[in-house]
Amino acid sequence: MDSYINYCNFFGNAAPEKLLSEYGSPLYVYNENILRNSMRNVANIVTKYPFTCNYSIKANSNLKILKIALEEGLNCDAMSEGEIRLLQMAGFPNDRIFYVPNNVSKEELQFAIDNSILTSLDSIAQLELYGQLNPGGRCAIRINPGVGAGHHEKVVTAGKNTKFAIASDDLDEAISVARKYDLRIIGINQHVGSLFMNPDAFLSSCRNILHFAERFDRLDFIDFGGGFGVPYHKLSGEEAFDFASLTLKLTDLLDEFVDKVGYTPLFKTEPGRYVPCESAILLGKVYSVKTNADKKYVGTDIGMNVLMRPVLYDSWHDIEVIRNNEVVLPSDKKEKVNVVGNICETGDIIAKERELPIIYKDDIIAVLDAGAYGFSMSSNYNMRYRPAEVMIGSDGNPVLIRRRETFEDLIRQFT
Ligand code: LLP
Repeated sequence: MDSYINYCNFFGNAAPEKLLSEYGSPLYVYNENILRNSMRNVANIVTKYPFTCNYSIKANSNLKILKIALEEGLNCDAMSEGEIRLLQMAGFPNDRIFYVPNNVSKEELQFAIDNSILTSLDSIAQLELYGQLNPGGRCAIRINPGVGAGHHEKVVTAGKNTKFAIASDDLDEAISVARKYDLRIIGINQHVGSLFMNPDAFLSSCRNILHFAERFDRLDFIDFGGGFGVPYHKLSGEEAFDFASLTLKLTDLLDEFVDKVGYTPLFKTEPGRYVPCESAILLGKVYSVKTNADKKYVGTDIGMNVLMRPVLYDSWHDIEVIRNNEVVLPSDKKEKVNVVGNICETGDIIAKERELPIIYKDDIIAVLDAGAYGFSMSSNYNMRYRPAEVMIGSDGNPVLIRRRETFEDLIRQFT
């Protein structure tokens, strides 16, 4: 694919230059059709058995996106009191929110209990605390399936090197703690990690968790977690995640399980990234192009505060160059550059030694696949204002879905 922007007419009736002059640069731009489409893809991972898909809102918690998820019939998972409250604000009823916290206070657990939000506990200590707060209640537990996956060691959340979940060796203890407080464990969940394109590790984790499920008399649900990948190298031909093949293989495992245990629980998944990732492009401006010790630097306003993934995980995001509102198509006039931001750190690099069309001052840089863990992980480092977010609606017209921050927003909390 030469250009994703052209391929899907990403900006609809809006011109990138006009968007930046109206809403400020940098700017997150979402495309509603692409977003809804990916929501529909994950809603049907399992079709043969009762199934719900929980969107994991840590990937992107813009209120408009949550409202669209609600319209599309997704449920959601939350990681914190703040995420729960935001989901309530978006209109999610409490029984469509699944709280999957990690190392939280008594007060935060109590908040979920007071709001009747089903909670999954991920350690014996947190289960014990939950039992004390809500004896006789219902809960879930998160089990380490022993197999992890992910694009970087920092985001592998199961297996041997992770803080997450109750080890399978501690399952008996968890069951007896639950008994002590008359807690009913109605579901179990897992999450292998973030971003896999090959589903083999995920499927073997599903096999393991289904095996652990046999230790319970009867479970209302089994949640396989998220992690489904997105082709971040789409401009060089990387294919989309193959849900059709996953569905076939996963359904085989479920058939086997249902046959063996003689009942059918509700099955769930918990994708974050897959849902908003490809629906957003991060736009920024080029302010300088220079050479320093033989290396070429394209200086933009897309700092690591706006998109942290390249710095944190060495993540790759495809980049397109826009000039006079047109994508500069890859031609033989290319050169290797470092696309950098405006933050006071040498590591503030969006793309390292990347072959790109020749870039000039005043061009626009479009960073693809920026919808997941983009804005949600942004910060005010260097006292920079977080950008606005705009959505190109199904009618092709842009709507502001979060205004750009102001100086006043940043100083509000000083006492
Ligand atoms: N469920 C649980 C319990 C999780 O911890 C996560 C992600 C998800 C679901 C959703 O996973 P996803 O489908 O998005 O892979 N900031 C990193 C990703 C961190 C993911 C953490 N947990 C990145 O930008 O790559």
